[in-house]
Amino acid sequence: MNEKLTWQDNWLLGIDALDDEHREMVRLINRLVDDDERVSIQQRVSDLMEHLHKHFHREEAFLRQINYPGYSNHQREHKMEIAEITALLHELESEKRTAITPAFFQNLKYWFLNHAVLEDKRFSDFYFREYKGDLVENMPLAQERSGNQPNDT
Ligand SMILES: [Fe+2]
Ligand SMILES: [Fe+2]
Repeated sequence: MNEKLTWQDNWLLGIDALDDEHREMVRLINRLVDDDERVSIQQRVSDLMEHLHKHFHREEAFLRQINYPGYSNHQREHKMEIAEITALLHELESEKRTAITPAFFQNLKYWFLNHAVLEDKRFSDFYFREYKGDLVENMPLAQERSGNQPNDT
């Protein structure tokens, strides 16, 4: 059974830019088991891959910025996931595989819950504990989003 992920607000980290990307990740994961044939499965997997690349890159930059002590482990988990999806993409390209198996989809959902929800939560907890939001204005993620500065008087 390919039951899709349903977004839950208790998955939020409280860091908007990363949360937005996690929502998009859920959409792209679910899309892998859509019956919609207009977009090939290869294309859908490669879209997910591209999104993961961008997201991991941004998240790792943030972790370096906050001096997250679990950085290397966290980065290793990202690399392992990229390797997993790369292998899938190669299998689809070489036609060793023509569809996403329920087991693969299950594992991907498991990875999302384990990593994007639980592991990412560890660094957001660290961030809010260590910085107490004080440095939010100076964070690249916060800066990118800031159109107006409500604290400026
Ligand atoms: Fe993440
Ligand atoms: Fe992560």
